[in-house]
Amino acid sequence: MSRVVVLGGNGEMGGAVTDVLRGRGHDVLPVSRATGVDAVTGAGLDGALSRADTVVDCLNHLTLSRRAAVSFFGGAAARVADAAGRTGVAHVVCLSIVNAADDGVRRVMGYYEGKAAQEEAYTAGAVPVTLARTTAWFSLAETFLRQVRVGPVAFVPGMRLRPVHPAAAAAFLADAVEAGPRTGHGADVWQLAGPEEHDAAAMARALAGARHPGVKVVRLPLPVAALREGLLPRGEVEVDDRRFADWLAGA
Ligand SMILES: NC(=O)c1ccc[n+]([C@@H]2O[C@H](COP(=O)([O-])OP(=O)(O)OC[C@H]3O[C@@H](n4cnc5c(N)ncnc54)[C@H](OP(=O)(O)O)[C@@H]3O)[C@@H](O)[C@H]2O)c1
Repeated sequence: MSRVVVLGGNGEMGGAVTDVLRGRGHDVLPVSRATGVDAVTGAGLDGALSRADTVVDCLNHLTLSRRAAVSFFGGAAARVADAAGRTGVAHVVCLSIVNAADDGVRRVMGYYEGKAAQEEAYTAGAVPVTLARTTAWFSLAETFLRQVRVGPVAFVPGMRLRPVHPAAAAAFLADAVEAGPRTGHGADVWQLAGPEEHDAAAMARALAGARHPGVKVVRLPLPVAALREGLLPRGEVEVDDRRFADWLAGA
């Protein structure tokens, strides 16, 4: 049994991994600004981390601004890494995105530059880190329907993805906690993807058809290859075989 602090513990994935870890018998403390812990300013961080063997970072700040993303993700990760070193935390698991740190991808979208800064800050920190990268979750289709919206019309980029079931992402993070830190130099990198390629706009259209009748999806073709296909996984990646269509049907 480990003592685990989940940063962003009331968010979508923070809540899901908290449930999975508790189900596996771990002692889990979910924290966020709602519980008095601010990873950006550092308020409450040392107190929360002083009871932890492992920290799972599920923080998020949705922004398209490069500067805001780097300041949030890079700044919070540097603070958390420092606090983890001071308080004797043995392992940090950072939830990240497959390919976000690739040059071509981070250059064209500010949010990914933030995720890259987060990975770099943890990798430079004193506490061993596992970068647990997943592809987009099926539930991201809900975000696509909300993000760029004019009345009933949602504009969604024509981006190719290999999305994965959110429950698989939560189990993957819990597996990374239980595996513990890798001995040796540098970050341990884990990657998870789903079984099939999908177009983001087609996912959003399917979700609208199933759950949001009246919402119309307009696909925005992307001229930049790094955006169009840059998030497709390459190299070593674990695959969960649950399909988007089954998730959509509620299976
Ligand atoms: N969606 C995907 O497909 C996908 C795929 C791969 C990786 N990811 C990564 O997964 C991570 C989590 O995403 P999510 O959708 O689960 O997030 P979310 O639901 O938006 O939750 C974000 C969490 O961060 C907390 N938070 C924000 N600012 C904070 C601060 N200054 N200090 C402490 N807590 C703070 C929020 O709680 P309070 O408001 O109470 O502070 C909340 O608990 C993100 O880093 C994202 O890049 C997402």
